[in-house]
Formats: sequence, C-alpha cells, structure tokens
Amino acid sequence: MTTTAQAPPTYAHGDTGWFTRDRFGLFIHWGLYALPARHEWVKQRERIRDEDYQQYFDHFDPDLYDPARWARDAKAAGMKYVVLTTKHHEGFCLWDSALTDYKAPNTPAGRDLLRPFVDACRAEGLKIGFYHSLIDWHHPDFPVDGLHAQRDDEEFKAANQGRDMRKYVEYLHGQTRELLTHYGPIDIIWFDFSYPGRVWGGKGRDDWQSEKLLALVRELAPDIIINDRLDLPGAADIRTPEQYQPRAWLTVDGQRVTWEACQTLNGSWGYDRDNLDWKSPELLVRMLIDSVSKGGNLLLNVGPTGRGEFDPRARATLAAIGAWMRLHNRSIYGATASELTPPPDCRFTRRGDRLYLHLFAWPFRHVHLDGLADRVAYAQLLNDASEIKLIVNDPKRQAQNTTMPGTAGTLTLQLPVQRPDVLVPVIELFLKE
Ligand code: GLC
Repeated sequence: MTTTAQAPPTYAHGDTGWFTRDRFGLFIHWGLYALPARHEWVKQRERIRDEDYQQYFDHFDPDLYDPARWARDAKAAGMKYVVLTTKHHEGFCLWDSALTDYKAPNTPAGRDLLRPFVDACRAEGLKIGFYHSLIDWHHPDFPVDGLHAQRDDEEFKAANQGRDMRKYVEYLHGQTRELLTHYGPIDIIWFDFSYPGRVWGGKGRDDWQSEKLLALVRELAPDIIINDRLDLPGAADIRTPEQYQPRAWLTVDGQRVTWEACQTLNGSWGYDRDNLDWKSPELLVRMLIDSVSKGGNLLLNVGPTGRGEFDPRARATLAAIGAWMRLHNRSIYGATASELTPPPDCRFTRRGDRLYLHLFAWPFRHVHLDGLADRVAYAQLLNDASEIKLIVNDPKRQAQNTTMPGTAGTLTLQLPVQRPDVLVPVIELFLKE
C-alpha cells in the first residue's frame, strides 16, 4: 500500500500590492467597552453577565462621534488605511445588521455608525478594513467555553447546554455577507481569533467553518486582504504579530510572508481611562521604522471614548507621529528591508536607489557604514535636505591624534554635533547604479 502525502490546499489570495507600499494603518477598537473604560475584554475579565453588561448598551450615546475627524487624524498621522471593529468579542455590532438587535441603532446612538465611518475614510482616500470578531460573548448560540465571560458560572452553563454552533455560524457568515455587500468595496477583513485546544471548548476552523467563510469572502470580494486568524494555514494574505516586534522578516516554512505588527498606544485596544502605560511618539515611530526595515507594516491602534472621540493623549501622539511622517515618509512608503546590515542602534529601509539610515541613537560626529565605500553618490538629512559629507578613509591610514584610522570598504558619514530636532533622524543615501 502506498501512502501519498496530502498536498496542502492552495488558496486564492488578495491584493497586497497597495498594502506593502502603504505600510502604516490605524486600528480602531470601539464598542460598548468604551464605557466601562477598562479594556475591551472587561466583560470576560470581570465575568460580567449579560444583564449587568446591558447598562453599557443602554448608555451608549456617542454624541461627539465625528468619523470625518477620525479620518483626518489618521491621514495627518501618515496612515493610509483604517481597520475598525465592526463587532468585538462582546458581540455588540456598530452597524445596522438585520441579523441581531444587539446593535448601535438600538442604543441611544440610534443609527448605523459604520456607514458614516466608511464614507469618511473614502472621502480622505483611506483604504478600509473591517475587524470582525469570530468570538461572541453575547450571542445565545455561541457555546460557552473556557474564554467565555460565564465560563465559571455553573448555573449559566447548565442552562445553556443547548447552544447550537450551527446557528451561530449561520449568523457569523450572514453578518460577514452583510459587511461585504452593504458598504462598497472593503480592502481588508480582519477576523479575530481562533483558539483550538487553548482552553476547554476552544474553537478553530471546524467551529467557524473557516473554509466556507473564506470561500464566501473570496466570492464577494476577490481582492480583499484576509488576515491569519481563521485557523487555515496557507489561506492568509497577511500575518499579524500582536504586541511584539518580530526580530527579522517574518517567515513561514522558511518563506518570507507579508506581515503587519498590530500595536497599542498603551497596552489596551479599547479605551482604557486609567491605563498610563503610554508609549512615547518616539518609540512608536521607531516601531514603524523597525517594521518597515523588516519588510512589514504597522497597524497602530486608538480606542475612542464612549463619546466617540479619540482622547487628547491619543490625538497628541498621532499628531507627533504625523509631524515626523510629513518630513520622513519617503523612508516608509514603498520602502522595504535592505539586505545590508545597519550599524548599531540604526535601521535601514530601501526604496529603489535610495537607502535610508534611521538613527535611533545619535553618535558623535561619525557613523560608519561597512561595505558602502563605493556605493553612495550623495547623502542628505531627510528632514531638511542638508548635505551629509561622505568620507572614505584610506584603509592603510593609522590612527593618529585627530585622524581616525581607515577600514577597507567603509563609508563614513560626517554628522553635525547637534542632532536634528525630529523624533528619529534619517539620512537619505543615493546609491550609485
Ligand atoms: C486579540 C484580542 C483583542 C484585540 C486583538 C487585536 O487577540 O482578543 O482584544 O482585538 O487581538 O489584535
């Protein structure tokens, strides 16, 4: 008897051409959890029952919601696409779904909140993504499992043994259809998340019927980008490392893959009032550069408040990033990893004949680029286009008083003593053909 290894299924893929050029996107986590304002998992963490969570539904009144302002803030920060939570794990839907009453139109908000968002993004030329939770801690047919808000409530579990996953799957697929047919072309669908075997009752591809869901998405939106959380190896267009920066270009089975790090401003995705773990704009800019230097994107999150605004701390951070991006986006858009090894505390990105040296630390007077002695025609600081002098020392030259020694193949850049007053200084190197 011969055994044939089963070939892995091959999947159609979406259009990632724009995605790897655009590099920088805004993630928005907005739902009822903005009201308790202590993390989007609050219902789960605090084991809140539906009856008690209802108060947030009853008081959800985002009177200052102005998605045009969100879109302007994103664009001014240099972001090119926005991914919004249509539904998070709590189960609340921002749009006017025909398949549930648990939706924004039935709260004091009184309307579909997704449509004006989509319109605002389009008006600013931003690409649009929908984050959609596979998990649902409100739906009456979502089987209670080890992650569920009522996981320890024996009475609740006993009363809910008849939950029918098939009905939930119908709902999940039906809502996906709504989202991909009622709002014009959508560029990214971001399903979240699978956890087979992680807890009792953990769920994966068989539970979501991921193959079918994927086929539905591809039928409705052949070019859409799909993330990697459906538990279908090989189907993903993008990988989504969460809350960490990969050490190198992400690979799967030894192959480089398209990836996007998703990161928070303060550790929480939903609005988290008392969380003071804010990353500085400088750190966030470094994380963006770091991603691009490894061939990836950055999806940076804001959790708007219950009144529908980005809070002042988030807006100030976005504005600071935008000020940097205004002067330096040439090193980000359309750029990718360079095969060259950068000096310590630096990152390279490359776009065509331009090589960008990002200096995370500012050395005194000189930075040395090994292997580049004959390869650079011109160099300048990117923030003000001021020339950076190129020095190639004779490799035979010895160290003496004020003269530095030479090293074969090394290009030395002569820096001003004063570090330019930008979050991360960048030197643009024009490579010779
Ligand atoms: C997660 C979380 C979450 C957040 C997210 C973003 O796995 O459950 O709350 O939405 O992924 O990547």
